[in-house]
Amino acid sequence: MADLHQLPRASRVLFCFLTVVAVRVMRTEPSAATAGPPGKIAVIGAGIGGASVAHFLQQHFGPQVQLDVYEKDAVGGRLATVTVNKQQYESGGASIHSLNLHMQDFVKLLGLKHRREVAGKSAIFNGEQFVLEETDWYLLNLFRLWWHYGMSFLRLQMWVEEVMEKFMRIYKYQAHGYAFSNLEELLHSLGGDTFVNMTQRFVAESLLEVGVTQRFIDDVIVAILRASYGQSVVVTAFAGAMSLAGAQGNMWAVEGGNKLVCSGLLKLTKANVIQATVIAISLHNAEGKTFYQVHYETEEGQGSSFYDIVVIATQLQDRKNNITFQNFDPPIAEFPGTFHTIVTSIIHGYLNSSYFGFPDPKLFPFANLLTTDTSALFFNSMDNLCPVNISGTFRRKQPQEAAVWRVHSLHPLEKHQLKILFRSYYSVQVKEWQAYPDYESAKSLPPIVLHDNLYYLNSIEWVTSSMEMAAVAAKNVALLAYNLWYQDLDKIDQKDLMHKVKTEL
Ligand SMILES: Cc1cc2nc3c(=O)[nH]c(=O)nc-3n(C[C@H](O)[C@H](O)[C@H](O)COP(=O)(O)OP(=O)(O)OC[C@H]3O[C@@H](n4cnc5c(N)ncnc54)[C@H](O)[C@@H]3O)c2cc1C
Ligand SMILES: *[C@@H]1O[C@H](CO)[C@@H](O)[C@H](O)[C@H]1NC(C)=O
Ligand SMILES: *[C@@H]1O[C@H](CO)[C@@H](O)[C@H](O)[C@H]1NC(C)=O
Ligand SMILES: *[C@@H]1O[C@H](CO)[C@@H](O)[C@H](O)[C@H]1NC(C)=O
Ligand SMILES: *[C@@H]1O[C@H](CO)[C@@H](O)[C@H](O)[C@H]1NC(C)=O
Repeated sequence: MADLHQLPRASRVLFCFLTVVAVRVMRTEPSAATAGPPGKIAVIGAGIGGASVAHFLQQHFGPQVQLDVYEKDAVGGRLATVTVNKQQYESGGASIHSLNLHMQDFVKLLGLKHRREVAGKSAIFNGEQFVLEETDWYLLNLFRLWWHYGMSFLRLQMWVEEVMEKFMRIYKYQAHGYAFSNLEELLHSLGGDTFVNMTQRFVAESLLEVGVTQRFIDDVIVAILRASYGQSVVVTAFAGAMSLAGAQGNMWAVEGGNKLVCSGLLKLTKANVIQATVIAISLHNAEGKTFYQVHYETEEGQGSSFYDIVVIATQLQDRKNNITFQNFDPPIAEFPGTFHTIVTSIIHGYLNSSYFGFPDPKLFPFANLLTTDTSALFFNSMDNLCPVNISGTFRRKQPQEAAVWRVHSLHPLEKHQLKILFRSYYSVQVKEWQAYPDYESAKSLPPIVLHDNLYYLNSIEWVTSSMEMAAVAAKNVALLAYNLWYQDLDKIDQKDLMHKVKTEL
């Protein structure tokens, strides 16, 4: 082929145009092995991963493909609300970063709104006193961080921003139709070896390396990670960077509840939501084609259906999900690793501000309490919640009034512990989540492709577990399934994508 760089600009553009046309023509003539589009696709799980993959699969394969989405429990999965006094409150995934572009797109597409922000101050508690308090005055906050921690704060910001900036390349790649067949390739294309390594080491190591002090890590970083992951510094560097980005502010949530994105996407795609527990997937070959039989259980009994493509959009490491694989040769191996339990308690009551050193409840200024790693503490974080629907006249409760609080802890709170945090309370609702991977428990990243047309969306959680990561994985799986189905191999695992997307039309 002639060296592209020697051609005059006009013909270079023409050349690019012709290749695009050529690719389009090739795409409309599917290879003999896969004549025509797939007939039926199954998605297992109706959380944000399953709902968004259903949407993206339909976007790519077209509306004629039948989409069945299996859900054993409630649509939304780890996005859920509980009701207190006729108002709903987020009990699972709560906040979304402003640069989470897929989530932003979904909200726009579905005509949903961002929930109005209600100001509230944060502070970090070490079991005896507050080690860091937010004030009303932005400059004073900065000054305090500077005074206490010197350059650490700036270095942290620069590190997080660099990771975010590189991570955001994924949107460009995906807009151009590129997919990755495994997580290492995906990470490598975004941030090279460094990104891959960041899933294999702890966040503290990376931070110390860029010059953040141990004191800053112990006081501040640990508190943020305990609030978001419940497991402090054993979070990997990549997952850590993502949740530290959230601590910089610019967070939002969906008016009416984040789970509305899941139900909205499923309604939009007109997918069949089947209330059933998938128990097994078996492989079948007929007339040179591969089919997957999905076996499920409902209240009425067992059943099964055949599919061309299956996407598993739930954690396979969670033993409770217990999906078995039959007839695969070689067999699909068990995935190592365990999930971390987080208990969410939604409590309607009067805060015991004395416990936090404020004998007069009227003077208690904080809405979000983070904690340091102290064995004396039996909770990770506490937040004064606003309902998912906020009217124009809504105001946060005064500290001496009864309010709805969310407490995150590793174990269910015992009565005497509740009595320490609250002077008295009207109600307590408890939700135990298999929340996040225990990042210490597995040494390598699980696969995305389990078999030819069988995909594992939630392997991404071992990079980072968040709503946006689920949506990123969903777009990747949809593109991968599409590119593989039509044998468009130039769109899979391409090197040097930064350069490619710049020169493409
Ligand atoms: C307490 C908490 C706080 C969080 N905070 C945030 C946050 O602030 N921001 C953020 O971005 N993320 C947050 N997260 C993480 C976020 O909620 C998850 O990463 C995300 O919701 C995962 O979505 P998913 O669709 O991948 O999985 P899930 O939501 O778990 O969905 C899987 C679905 O599959 C169903 N299922 C499982 N097995 C079967 C089966 N055999 N048959 C049929 N159906 C099955 C389940 O019932 C479930 O509905 C938080 C999570 C928790 C628990
Ligand atoms: C990644 O880790 C490997 C092994 O731990 C190391 O040899 C390599 O230098 C690291 N690469 C980067 C870019 O940090
Ligand atoms: C809450 O907000 C959602 C989304 O805007 C809306 O559909 C719903 O009706 C609202 N509910 C209440 C009780 O206002
Ligand atoms: C998982 O499913 C298999 C087969 O359906 C069953 O034998 C086994 O007891 C189940 N395990 C759990 C932990 O539910
Ligand atoms: C509140 O906190 C104080 C100080 O820790 C403690 O003595 C008291 O028992 C707690 N509970 C109530 C109900 O006041």
